[in-house]
Formats: sequence, C-alpha cells, structure tokens
Amino acid sequence: MTSKIGNRPGLIFGIESSCDETACAVVAGGREVLSNVVASQADLHARFGGVVPEIAGRAHLEAINPVIAQALDEADIAPTDVAAVAVANRPGLIGSLLVGLMAAKTLAWVWRVPLIGVNHIHAHAWAPALDDEPIEYPAGALIASGGHTSLYLCRSPNELELLGATIDDAAGEAFDKVAAILKLGYPGGPAIDQAARNGQADAIKFPRSLLKGQSLDFSFSGIKTAVLYHVNGVPGAIRDGVEKGIEHPHGADGLTEKEISDIAAGFQAAVVDVMRTKIKRAVNFARQDRDTDVRTLIVGGGVAANSALRQAVAELGKKLDLDVRIPAMEYCTDNAAMVAGLACNLLSSGKIDDLELSATATVRR
Ligand code: KG4
Ligand code: ZN
Repeated sequence: MTSKIGNRPGLIFGIESSCDETACAVVAGGREVLSNVVASQADLHARFGGVVPEIAGRAHLEAINPVIAQALDEADIAPTDVAAVAVANRPGLIGSLLVGLMAAKTLAWVWRVPLIGVNHIHAHAWAPALDDEPIEYPAGALIASGGHTSLYLCRSPNELELLGATIDDAAGEAFDKVAAILKLGYPGGPAIDQAARNGQADAIKFPRSLLKGQSLDFSFSGIKTAVLYHVNGVPGAIRDGVEKGIEHPHGADGLTEKEISDIAAGFQAAVVDVMRTKIKRAVNFARQDRDTDVRTLIVGGGVAANSALRQAVAELGKKLDLDVRIPAMEYCTDNAAMVAGLACNLLSSGKIDDLELSATATVRR
C-alpha cells in the first residue's frame, strides 16, 4: 500500500460497531473524511422487525476485518500514517461493542498508537462538522436514532451536558415499531416518512407525551401503544358493558392505503411536536438557567433524516436565532467518521485511553 499523506498528527482511524453497522473510517484533522466504510446488517434483521443482538455480534465478527482493510485502502494511507485509533465503546449492544473494541485494541497495539474510547452519542453531535464548516459553540443537540433520543448542551465538542433522554423507547425504535404495526417494513422511519406524505396529520390525534413540568426527557412507548390499539383494537375492550375482545382483528390488513397514510402522518406529527417542544425548552433552559448563549442547534442520528423533523427544526432555528446543523445523510446514520472526528478533539485535549479500556452498554451522560 502506498501512502499519499505521510505521517499526519491528526489522522485518526475510527471504528464503530455499537449496533448493527460495522463501520471504519479515516479522518484527518477532525473534519476531513478520507474514507467512510459502512457494512450494514439491516437485511439480516429485517425479518425480525428490529436488531437481534446475537445476530448483530456475529455479523460484526465476520465484517470487521474486511471493513478495516477497505477503510485503509480507500483512504490510501498506510497504517504508519495513523496517529490514533478511536472506537465507540459506549453505549450500545455489549456483544457488538466488544467486537469493535477488540479490533481497535489490536490495531492500537500493533500500530503502537494511542487508543481513544468515544461515546457514540457524543460522536453523533460532532457529525455536522464532517466535510463541512466547523460547529460554533455553545450548541444544543438532539440526537435521535433507533437506540437513543437525547438532548445535550454542548459547550465544546467534548464537553457535553445531558439535559434529557428517553425514559423508554428511542424515537427511531417507535418509528420502527409503528411501521411494523402498519406492515410497512423495516427500517420503519423512511417508510413512515414516505407514507405520511399522502396522509393528513390531523386526521388522528395521537398523544404527545411531554412528561411533567419542564421535563427534558422523552417517552415514546405510550404513542406506540396508542397506534397499536388504534390499528388492532384494545384487547378485552368493554363497550356498553359487553366484552368486545379485539375490536379490529384484521389489524393493518383491514386498513385502506389512505387510513395507513393518515396514521403514519398523525404519528409522525406527534413525535415531531414533542421534539419541537423539548428543543425549545432545552434552548430556553440553557440560555436562562445555564446562562449559556446557545448559537447552534445540532440534530443528528437516523431520525434526523425525517422530512417533517427537518422542516420543524429549520423553522425553530429561525425563530430562536440558531444556526441549524444537520449532518449529510451518510453522517446522520451510524458511521465511524463521526467517531474518528470527535476523537481528534479528544486527542488534542490529551483524553486518551489505554488497552484496559472496556465497553459499556448503558451510559446516561
Ligand atoms: O442512527 P441510526 O442509523 O442507527 C441507530 O443508532 O439506531 O438510526 C436508525 C433509525 C431507525 O430507527 C430508522 O427507522 C430511523 O433511524 N430513521 C428514520 C428515518 N430514516 C431513518 N426515522 C424517521 N424518519 C426517517 N426518514
Ligand atoms: Zn447512533
């Protein structure tokens, strides 16, 4: 392999395997993406309607070596060019995280460079800077995907304060489950987004779970159940004192295309409404209670692809005088470039790890 670049201090090799994507990337100086390879397992999990952890772990094992090789090759660098190896070591599926972590430790040891453990969700908040302008801080960030829904106040790329998070399902998970109820396929987000275009958002008013007071946490399990009952009926419902059993036993098969579109649109509108409200609360909280003049709004994670959410945050950005930063689609969904990019900031702040680094499935930070 020939090296075009030579040894560069900010050249990071990143690995991401927290869920169902095996990904490796090479990023220079935190923002310049030299390669970004993602091997998706979506097809393997589609028939189960969600990610099966055991299957994900095994698929990572098969994919990791070829993906490492491809990322080096596409970046046209030699291992001796790399300044550090970064890996998303939290949060995620533990079996999946461990595959990436072991690979990263091996590379760091063989290449004799520092190892940097990266919080996967924090890395999502760095993604808008990839192949783009630097992010202006302080920033608010909403990171919403199949595995997480979190609101942060970011004082810098690696000083993030968690302001709120989902207390049950992630937003993307709710999209996936509602799509499964409507028999729209997996992953559900794009399918709901598409179906909602032909629907009437106010035809069915699904509940908005805003939680108590000024809570910045989210809850999406209630709306998922509301859609389930709307489509399949309430098991054991009693009407006029008579047990009715399941009211609509045919579920989604008994619905017209228009009815499906209306449900998709109503569900999507409710989720976006909640997000809009929470973002507004978070920005006000940061400005008033934290005395921090938030200038930027970062929206990342797979759900940032949602057209209604994009429109809502664009409008909100204008209203609250915020520069809205949504990453390019390839950097919205899980990827290793965001991991390598954030690691460049960690490296320059001296935040490196050693080969004792462990993986953590759940973190509330
Ligand atoms: O970030 P990501 O690729 O992986 C996780 O860490 O989960 O996000 C995937 C999630 C899935 O739940 C998918 O349904 C959702 O993002 N998603 C969307 C859209 N595109 C993907 N949700 C809503 N609208 C979309 N257009
Ligand atoms: Zn993610």
